[in-house]
Amino acid sequence: MDNILIIDYGSQVTQLIARRIRAQHIYCEIVPFHHINAAMIANIKPKGIILSGSPASVHDDNAPHIDDAILSYHVPIFAICYGQQALCHYLGATVTTGHHREFGKSIITITQDCLLFDGIWAKGKEYQVWMSHGDYLNDLPQNFVKLAQSDGAPYAAIGDIEKHIYGVQFHPEVIHTPDGEKILENFAKKICGCHGDWHMGSFKDYAIEKIRNQVGDTAHVVCGLSGGVDSAVAAKLIFDAIGQRLTCIFVDHGLMRTNEGDDVCRLFCDYFNIPLIRCDCEALFLSALENIDDPEQKRKIIGKLFIDVFEREASQLDNVAFLGQGTLYPDVIESVSVTGASSVTIKSHHNVGGLPERMNLKLIEPLRDLFKDEVRALGTTLGLPDNMIYRHPFPGPGLAIRIPGAVTKEKCDILRHADVIFLDEIRKNNLYDDIWQAFCVLLPVKSVGVMGDGRTYDYVCAMRAVTASDGMTAESFGFSHEFLTHTATRIVNEVKGISRVVYDCTSKPPATIEWE
Ligand code: XMP
Repeated sequence: MDNILIIDYGSQVTQLIARRIRAQHIYCEIVPFHHINAAMIANIKPKGIILSGSPASVHDDNAPHIDDAILSYHVPIFAICYGQQALCHYLGATVTTGHHREFGKSIITITQDCLLFDGIWAKGKEYQVWMSHGDYLNDLPQNFVKLAQSDGAPYAAIGDIEKHIYGVQFHPEVIHTPDGEKILENFAKKICGCHGDWHMGSFKDYAIEKIRNQVGDTAHVVCGLSGGVDSAVAAKLIFDAIGQRLTCIFVDHGLMRTNEGDDVCRLFCDYFNIPLIRCDCEALFLSALENIDDPEQKRKIIGKLFIDVFEREASQLDNVAFLGQGTLYPDVIESVSVTGASSVTIKSHHNVGGLPERMNLKLIEPLRDLFKDEVRALGTTLGLPDNMIYRHPFPGPGLAIRIPGAVTKEKCDILRHADVIFLDEIRKNNLYDDIWQAFCVLLPVKSVGVMGDGRTYDYVCAMRAVTASDGMTAESFGFSHEFLTHTATRIVNEVKGISRVVYDCTSKPPATIEWE
């Protein structure tokens, strides 16, 4: 499998380089610069290496450095922004600290044709790119030639043509460099010789082979199912690799939505025939949550109980040596600080955190090289149904964080009923796929209403629906007034216990998506 290695020097947009390369059906991996050494490059066997940007200056103390192993591996190199400066500095050129940052759109002029620009940019013509730099390259290392220039960067693009080493001051990975993806494609295909034949079918075969090698012929694997797409795809992939030596555990904490637990069991157990243990723990979780109204305490209680139940069930299985998890690429990419220190970002809903050590299990994370849309594509290749693959995210602590204040079974049931109606209307109006997440929240407020001839005094329910691309920021979804009034009326009429419905139109920030 062709492979491009992306070395991360701490740029905010390093992930975009990977997205652009993968869009060309070429597999790539991001590795933080301080993990680079000859053995690890030899292990990855890249056909080319890309050096990312960085907020650092090569003149900073502890500036991220170019490891000798990068040039000694003798494959093409494409150095972007800081990567270009650091590489040239390493090769003996001068990098000058600029008086003002060149930030945003910029026009470059091509001064020499080359393979990197082949079929895209021509000598003497001007093109738009996106720059973000303070320092600039003042002269060239030996054997390098200038390929492009701009007002703020005398060496906007350079190359050692013979050795296939290229550098650009601009960022080809951002959309504001309109031809950027094609430049990256030229590097990967025309310069490195990658074929662009990486697709989910080939990844599936590769991943299955890798899991078989890792697990061996006798060991068993245990995998937690949450009802979400990541754990479902991971479990199905592991099942396709080792069959009945996989056991899935589904801890039903009673804080799921209507039919959610049954749907998971029907799909995995009845349809795919995957060994599945379902633990019905509603009473256990609800009694632990009694009178608890602090959101973080709720999360802690649920997280700890989840691990206890999972561990109890897993420890009864024979010969289990591995824990399968649906960790994704964005969860494992380390944020690289310019001093080389790194911190791993782990989603709070990784409920089984800490368990591998406690149970002495090794981890299998077959999705850790994939982005969310790639996981969905893999899910389709594995035969998972669309309604599982494209479902909205649902938080690990479930309805507990959609019931501000103390959680009770009665409140969960009321909320579940309202949620079904809201989602039903969204689906009927074909809006489900336009929305990132839609749900109801049961407020700890009662309000007076009138139904028939009688007075009611029941809960207020908030409807929440947002659009987002990654959940980090979000906009409230713009339903029509007719949709809102119709759905509100249905909820009040059909759900006993709710007397009033409001719509939450706050964006994130300043609010969060969930209410707790
Ligand atoms: P917020 O509310 O922080 O949510 O804007 C962002 C995304 O994260 C989900 N979320 C959680 N997921 N455990 C989870 O597994 C949690 O404790 C948790 N809190 C929020 C939320 O549903 C949204 O998709």
